[in-house]
Amino acid sequence: MEPSKNPTPIPQLLPSPLFYLLLALMTLLFIARSAGKLAGKRKLPPGPAGLPFVGQTFALLKAMRQNRGEQWLAEMAERYGPVFRLSLFGSNVAVLSGVNGNKVVFGGGGGGDDVVGAKQAEWALRILGRRNLLTLDGNAHRRVRGAMGVFLKGDVVRGYVGRMGELVERHLEREWKGKETVLAMPFIKSLSFDIICTLLYGLGGVADRDSLKKDFQDLIKGLWSLPLNLPFTRYRRALQAARRLRAAFAELVVTRKGQLERGEATAYDDLLTCFLSAKGEEEGFTEEEIVDNGVLAMAAGHDTLTLLITFVTRVLADPDLYARVYAEQSEIANGKGHDEPLNWEDLTKMKYTWRVAQETLRLYPPIFGSYRRILKDFEYAGYHIPKGWQILWVSSLTHMNKDFFPEPSKFEPARFDNQSSIIPYSFVGFGAGPRICIGQEFAKVETLVTIHYMVTHFSWKLACPDETVARVPVLTLSKGLPIHLLPHKI
Ligand code: HEM
Ligand SMILES: *[C@@H]1O[C@H](CO)[C@@H](O)[C@H](O)[C@H]1NC(C)=O
Repeated sequence: MEPSKNPTPIPQLLPSPLFYLLLALMTLLFIARSAGKLAGKRKLPPGPAGLPFVGQTFALLKAMRQNRGEQWLAEMAERYGPVFRLSLFGSNVAVLSGVNGNKVVFGGGGGGDDVVGAKQAEWALRILGRRNLLTLDGNAHRRVRGAMGVFLKGDVVRGYVGRMGELVERHLEREWKGKETVLAMPFIKSLSFDIICTLLYGLGGVADRDSLKKDFQDLIKGLWSLPLNLPFTRYRRALQAARRLRAAFAELVVTRKGQLERGEATAYDDLLTCFLSAKGEEEGFTEEEIVDNGVLAMAAGHDTLTLLITFVTRVLADPDLYARVYAEQSEIANGKGHDEPLNWEDLTKMKYTWRVAQETLRLYPPIFGSYRRILKDFEYAGYHIPKGWQILWVSSLTHMNKDFFPEPSKFEPARFDNQSSIIPYSFVGFGAGPRICIGQEFAKVETLVTIHYMVTHFSWKLACPDETVARVPVLTLSKGLPIHLLPHKI
């Protein structure tokens, strides 16, 4: 009965007869288990009543599909206060709202490593592997994070700017030039895939990238599905895709190892050579560790970046915002020679553009929220959160709270003018604390470089202004963001 112990954050539902049968079985199990637990214990967080096992699962998913998930949770927080209990996917979940809650979840106050753990559910580990960064705690986490950081931060990622720019220009040339109307989202998705394949894995121009792409898509869908390992389920497809991806990555690791030994590659060529060359105080990384974290970087980076850049493109259809971004970007372009590539120094001047991106991330966070697990009984805000419960942080509970962001629904990049005026733990689009997104700098570089070339070559208008935004459960635009392109005359 894996699913009863291991909740999935926001799965797709399969309303088949089989599903209901399983549900009935799990309900029985759940009642049997909780009967013993509920007898005379300390005060648990308050929350709405719901069916056993199912709890609020359907209500939350439905709200998300209608793009009301944020509101639904905000109403709960209003009714029940700083911590409330939901039952999601068969598990007890304490939702902590506000910056104090975020501090606990992100390891900045209360708890600590031995109380709040990252440990992910078994069904997710079967897709992402047991040694992936998201699931590791303590020293194991620090060790892998350190090695990934060498490649994803600082000088290495800063050195990518020029190569990223080439890729973006090539894609625009091929897919936007001469077109009147394009679908922005699929374009950005394939551009982003190309950038990650080329820069993280050294797979520039490799023929079988298309099959990798399909497998990654299946893998990500599986992370958002009910974990039923049965024929034709998304979960089964994801397991199969993950197996193929791991095999492909394992082969690539062997190739890179040979290249390093023969002096044909260097430590900083890509994420894999970086892992292979990492020494530090301990022994090197095993093949399993390299493969698991190689796969994770794509799973964590591809959709999130696609969504951020897509939503920035959408907000830039507003002529006033566009004009300000264009002014900043064209000044940078005009200060350079023809065909001179962008560099890190140029990116440091894109201050307003980055504020637009941050404000987009506040209003349309690609990551709705995520879980931690309570490893030891824990007291919070006068309530008892028992060992084994999940705690959930949700970005909108602070992003859309007027105490932290006045008039929260208004798009206002100036909120980020003075970064130190942002209350710590209120803006969590990249998370916070020791597990803050390690791809943050990479994401910044890719977003700024992409927007630079888009606005210096084109302006655009929304072709379907009332296209629906929803979380199904991943953030989506129903039509793929069709836009009318207006090329600049040069
Ligand atoms: C706009 C793009 C991105 C957004 C919005 C984003 C968001 C996030 C968030 C919110 C977390 C924290 C999750 C938690 O605390 O539970 C996270 C962690 C992580 N992200 Fe990103 N991310 C982005 C891009 C990337 C990229 C490009 C990569 C890799 C190349 C990446 C790799 C990771 C990894 C490995 C973690 C886990 C870190 C740890 O547990 O120590 N992300 N990301
Ligand atoms: C930025 O915000 C901080 C904290 O609110 C404040 O102390 C500081 O004076 C502000 N700086 C500027 C330049 O406005």
